[in-house]
Amino acid sequence: MKTQKVRWGIIGGGLMGREFASALGRWFVLEDFPIGAELVAVCDVQESVREWFRRVPTVGLITENYRELLQSSSVDAVYVAVPHQLHREIYLDVLRAGKDLLAEKPFGIDLEAAQTVRDEAARLGRFVRVSSEFPFSPGAQRVWELSSTRLDELGHILEIRAGFHHSSDLDPDKPINWKRQMKTCGEAGVMNDLGLHLVHMPFRLGWHPRRVYAQLQKIYTQRPDGKGGMAPCDTWDNALLHCDVEMDGRDVPMRLETKRLAPGEVNTWFIEVLGTDGGIRYSTKEPKTLWTFSRGQERGQEQGWTRTDLGHKMAFATITGGIFEAGFPDVILQMLAAFVAERAGKLEGRLGCATPDEAVQSHQLWQAALQSHATHCAIEIGF
Ligand SMILES: NC(=O)c1ccc[n+]([C@@H]2O[C@H](COP(=O)([O-])OP(=O)(O)OC[C@H]3O[C@@H](n4cnc5c(N)ncnc54)[C@H](O)[C@@H]3O)[C@@H](O)[C@H]2O)c1
Repeated sequence: MKTQKVRWGIIGGGLMGREFASALGRWFVLEDFPIGAELVAVCDVQESVREWFRRVPTVGLITENYRELLQSSSVDAVYVAVPHQLHREIYLDVLRAGKDLLAEKPFGIDLEAAQTVRDEAARLGRFVRVSSEFPFSPGAQRVWELSSTRLDELGHILEIRAGFHHSSDLDPDKPINWKRQMKTCGEAGVMNDLGLHLVHMPFRLGWHPRRVYAQLQKIYTQRPDGKGGMAPCDTWDNALLHCDVEMDGRDVPMRLETKRLAPGEVNTWFIEVLGTDGGIRYSTKEPKTLWTFSRGQERGQEQGWTRTDLGHKMAFATITGGIFEAGFPDVILQMLAAFVAERAGKLEGRLGCATPDEAVQSHQLWQAALQSHATHCAIEIGF
């Protein structure tokens, strides 16, 4: 039976675990939201991380053993943010303990892990969604609204482009971490790290690639190990995926870009849809800005891109003034609101979080991309 307050546990209180706690800590900013949410339990294997969570007043259980958290009858749902090689085992244990799950991407280190977790969730009837927050930013919501309800306004679709660019790995002296090693990040490397953020919205719109040609790059093959030596850095740094998506009986190019070596880009997520009559483009690099293209309706009228300043118009209303900018903590809160609302059957037509099926499809795409790069051929994908 679902309570009117979701009592959350976190397994993995690192970078993302703390963002999650921060969003739950200001749940009260949501306006007229029908369900409460509260962080009640945290598990992390590091003492320093557990210590940090002592500042959160609602947390009653702090443990280094996630099975202890899962045994707690005070926990309804669990957010898990741990390295990728642990996803399969911990996600399965969460489901078998009778809890619902907000999983982190990539939802398992590989396709087999993702399929196993997806199938077990379906068998047990648990509510499971996967983290992908950028589609909840105001500009991305405008792209979603147009693409899901009025796509014909753009005319014939010419191309779709989506990307996620980072640059901190340009520094060869940056020490190694688990995200840069195949055994903990996965063979898909940067696609495992950044890819689900790109395909969440296209897949929901039915834009599934029929085939992919991939260009993958590995530049720095070792990095400082933080102990005076060097460690192998064996994951893909950049991935360009050139896909064909069938729309109205035609192949439309869709390019997906995931990069850790993108000069000048700190955390840039973007999506662009271009058609013969119109276009729409949003990037977190210009968080307040939505670009829309019009060819001009009348003969002789000039073409033009229009820049619109966005305010704080969110899928789930908050107390924040409409003229203020939205940032990363805001979109995490919106994503959590989408999870909680959908779990209670109250999504009411809004975009929901990425699903286990979409995560499995993303792994199918990364697997085809690896095969494409290895063979220098386009690979057909049977979704
Ligand atoms: N949604 C996003 O924008 C986003 C951003 C970054 C990372 N992520 C994803 O979040 C997940 C975690 O990434 P991160 O950047 O937070 O990593 P992180 O290294 O900062 O944190 C991981 C935490 O897990 C803990 N941990 C490891 N093994 C554990 C175990 N057995 N039990 C309990 N805790 C354990 C570690 O001590 C650490 O504190 C990954 O799946 C990653 O891909 C998502």
